[in-house]
Amino acid sequence: MAFSKNFLWGGAVAAHQFEGGWQAGGKGVSIADVMTAGANGVPREITDGVIPGKNYPNHEAIDFYDRYKDDVKLFAELGLKCFRTSIAWSRIFPQGDEALPNEAGLAFYDKLFDELLKYHIQPVITLSHFEMPYHLVKAYGGWRNRKLIDFFTHYAEVVFKRYKDKVTYWMTFNEINNQTSGMNDWSLFTNSGLQIQPGENAELLMYRASHHELVASALAVQIGHRINPNFMIGSMFSTGPVYPASPDPKDTMKAQRLMQANCWYADVQCKGKYPAWLKHYFAVKNYDIGITLADEDILKAGTVDYIGFSYYASHVVKAAADEPADYMTPGRDIEVKNPTLSRSDWGWEIDPIGLRVTLNWFSQRFDLPLFIVENGLGAFDRLDGDRIHDGYRIDYLKKHIEQMALAVNEDGVDLLGYTPWGIIDLVSAGTGQMDKRYGLIYVDKNDAGKGSLKRLKKDSFYWYQNLIRHNGNQL
Ligand code: BG6
Repeated sequence: MAFSKNFLWGGAVAAHQFEGGWQAGGKGVSIADVMTAGANGVPREITDGVIPGKNYPNHEAIDFYDRYKDDVKLFAELGLKCFRTSIAWSRIFPQGDEALPNEAGLAFYDKLFDELLKYHIQPVITLSHFEMPYHLVKAYGGWRNRKLIDFFTHYAEVVFKRYKDKVTYWMTFNEINNQTSGMNDWSLFTNSGLQIQPGENAELLMYRASHHELVASALAVQIGHRINPNFMIGSMFSTGPVYPASPDPKDTMKAQRLMQANCWYADVQCKGKYPAWLKHYFAVKNYDIGITLADEDILKAGTVDYIGFSYYASHVVKAAADEPADYMTPGRDIEVKNPTLSRSDWGWEIDPIGLRVTLNWFSQRFDLPLFIVENGLGAFDRLDGDRIHDGYRIDYLKKHIEQMALAVNEDGVDLLGYTPWGIIDLVSAGTGQMDKRYGLIYVDKNDAGKGSLKRLKKDSFYWYQNLIRHNGNQL
């Protein structure tokens, strides 16, 4: 195994899942602040504003906001070269549509980035990770509204200018493609602040909102490069290969279409244009997405510098008996369990080779540097005195890193770095749980919101520390 000496070993989190301090320093309410705790298989409720008495796990999260110095010290002890987090848009623009930013919010990230840089840990920053200001949903209907392009690019410009000497690696929208892959209440809300009203066409609104985000992202890339030509501004997709359930060519056609549907955002963000099949789909469906000639120029001029992606699992699909001729059935695709793989406690299929498949797929298709910015195992951990023996997590990470090394060394994939998800236990985005743990650092807090918030190093902490020390050469 040989990783370059600049390989970015790191860890990843998102502001709303770990900061807490939901009203600190003048922060506004974000969409993450109106989502209650769900459970395994129980969706989170999206409430109409913050309702007293409901359990909103992101409000306190793990209180990184007040404990960032101690936590960054632990990241330094772990040996991280980079740390991926997001800026909570609602700390900088509490409502989202103000002309002037909130200085206290800007100052918080100054302090955080300075603290990281003190230990030579590079911040890797996502601009929008499921946490847009809630006011933009209530007053504008979320990303269905074109005005959000201006609000977002203004926000991007402010933070690019402020942190131009502290941050090099940026990403615009986290897992921007969830909304097409899932098209459920959660993904429409977390990606785009979309709440579908009776009689509205969810699919059309999803594509419109996505288009606005893609234009905003391409503008942000251009603004960022003007502010600092050395910025590396990337996309961020949720990935995983889609395998056909059988050798039946219909299943292969279905799997291929799903990959196209999951990854069309990559075509736009990396090649600067919509793929032919999707333009055709819009025309057949008579969908007026509002793509102007000026938008097309913006998309072309604002392609990304690298592809960031999350990888957790692969999927197996089957064509339905009544599969339409275009093989498009967003939100109704038949998933089949993969008999060759094991699953996490939450039913996510564990497929390390799928990571190598994914790295090759993106590398061949777009010929851009790649960055694995999320990968990890959500599991129940058990305390044994002051220790957590999470051999299962080590096993998961080790097998994925082995495949990543093969992709780099055998397949020639250009890979910038690897930041396992939830380097410290945090609130699950999908379920709002604390007990779905990804961290290498344990946080004493459970699903009921009880616990001292004390931090403990898991066995995986020491394992990853050793791996980074040897630059991935000793698994
Ligand atoms: C990705 C997100 O979807 O996966 C993270 O970018 C999220 O925000 C992670 O936490 C794991 O998902 P979950 O639902 O287990 O938290």
